[in-house]
Amino acid sequence: MNYQYILTEISEKILTISINRADKMNALNRDLLQEIKHAVMNAQSNEAVAGIIITGTGVKAFAAGADIAEFASYSVEEGTNLASAGHLVMYEIENSSKPVIAAVNGFALGGGCELAMACHIRIASTNAKFGQPEVNLGVIPGYGGTQRLTRYIGKAQALELLLTADMINAEKALTLGLVNEVVPIEELIQRSRAILLKTQTKSPLTIAQILKLSNDYDNGIGFEEEIKEFGNCFGTEDFKEGTDAFLNKRAAAFTGK
Ligand code: COA
Repeated sequence: MNYQYILTEISEKILTISINRADKMNALNRDLLQEIKHAVMNAQSNEAVAGIIITGTGVKAFAAGADIAEFASYSVEEGTNLASAGHLVMYEIENSSKPVIAAVNGFALGGGCELAMACHIRIASTNAKFGQPEVNLGVIPGYGGTQRLTRYIGKAQALELLLTADMINAEKALTLGLVNEVVPIEELIQRSRAILLKTQTKSPLTIAQILKLSNDYDNGIGFEEEIKEFGNCFGTEDFKEGTDAFLNKRAAAFTGK
């Protein structure tokens, strides 16, 4: 598929997806979101990819939300369809079997904040700003914002942001637990890559299991699933390799089997 709104690049088994609408603050129109979904889904079966970075082009915006010009005249039905389609994109990212890092390089507002929250890890540049300003437009978050923001920063803090439309800076986002780390913008991609290179040294089976279980926790079935998946580890070559390597004081060479 030829992409119109995103750039993709694979190196060192890391797929970087760059939202490429800097003149529109990387606003997420419908086709753009479908392109992200396509790239993430394709990566699942691509052995050349072990991790994914989602970022924005330019130094101002990760993504300043859904495309307001696109949805301004939508009907109730079209609005519902927009949210359904957006939720599916976020679902694919959150349920990726390969780690997805949001490298937040500027404004992450509305759908942009929701996109970052669907990723497994968020690294922010010092100039990043987060918020759910939908109420300013007479609408509510439609890509999971009311749910994921509450999960990450707690109900009281989430409600303050959701109800006031206030933006917070990267340091505040770090304090609240919305982002993992804040780094200078020049180091944003390098730091995100370093995390993914580290996960590449682990068994891809265990990485995928942990990612899946982190979502099962949210679905309330995590403990049971963990028991099952823990047992399954004992049937893998990677488990034999990892334990043998430890006991013989050598580095493990995982094969994903
Ligand atoms: N949808 C569509 N277009 C958007 C957009 C969005 N969410 N966010 C920014 N743009 C467009 C602007 O309309 C403008 O287009 P133009 O040059 O054709 O007029 C361009 O991107 C630059 O944005 P501008 O507002 O001029 O930049 P700024 O630096 O003054 O402000 C923001 C940056 C992010 C604070 C501001 O653009 C903003 O508030 N955006 C909307 C955020 C929002 O409400 N998101 C939730 C949507 S549900």
